[in-house]
Amino acid sequence: MTAVLPPSFLPRSLHGDRRRWHDGPTPVSLGDLTALTRQVAAEVVAGVHDVEVDPTNRWSRRLHADPHLDVWLISWTTEQAAELHDHGGSIGALTVVQGELTEWRWSAGRDDDHLATAEELVARGPGLRRRTLTAGSGAAFPLGHVHDVSNRRTDAAVSVHAYSPPLSAMSYYAVERGTLTRTRSELVEPGASPE
Ligand SMILES: [Fe+2]
Repeated sequence: MTAVLPPSFLPRSLHGDRRRWHDGPTPVSLGDLTALTRQVAAEVVAGVHDVEVDPTNRWSRRLHADPHLDVWLISWTTEQAAELHDHGGSIGALTVVQGELTEWRWSAGRDDDHLATAEELVARGPGLRRRTLTAGSGAAFPLGHVHDVSNRRTDAAVSVHAYSPPLSAMSYYAVERGTLTRTRSELVEPGASPE
């Protein structure tokens, strides 16, 4: 473990935030994780953390680990991607530092889908929804969030990810005839690069 983050980084929820335990089996909230990844992204921009780029294998470095969360710095060259996956019993967030990442996330649709036109339904789901994450923007991953992330641009992308509790298992998925199907589940070794 490399403890490079100052004590002030401790999530607000560890100090009595009312979101404590609300977002998952952790005292850290999605808001905490989003704020933390933004803070560390600013540190990366300021040159606090070195970034490497590996065109063969996606490069990552764990910046912090404790019983509640871990923080990762990841670089993505063109077409480097994660498979469609969830994060087991962990919640998470990411902030893009530079470049651009494309996220495809599974959407289950909405309660009022019966009021939508056929064209609107296609846009509502269930299905995969794409969003583009540019530098300074990010995404939060509640429990059950299924997504893949990739770099579709020619320039390398860099992102900061945080997970709480630290990732311990992930499941992988395929979409077949519009249905999300889990294909396998794997344990994540402590300290193994996340997705
Ligand atoms: Fe992920």
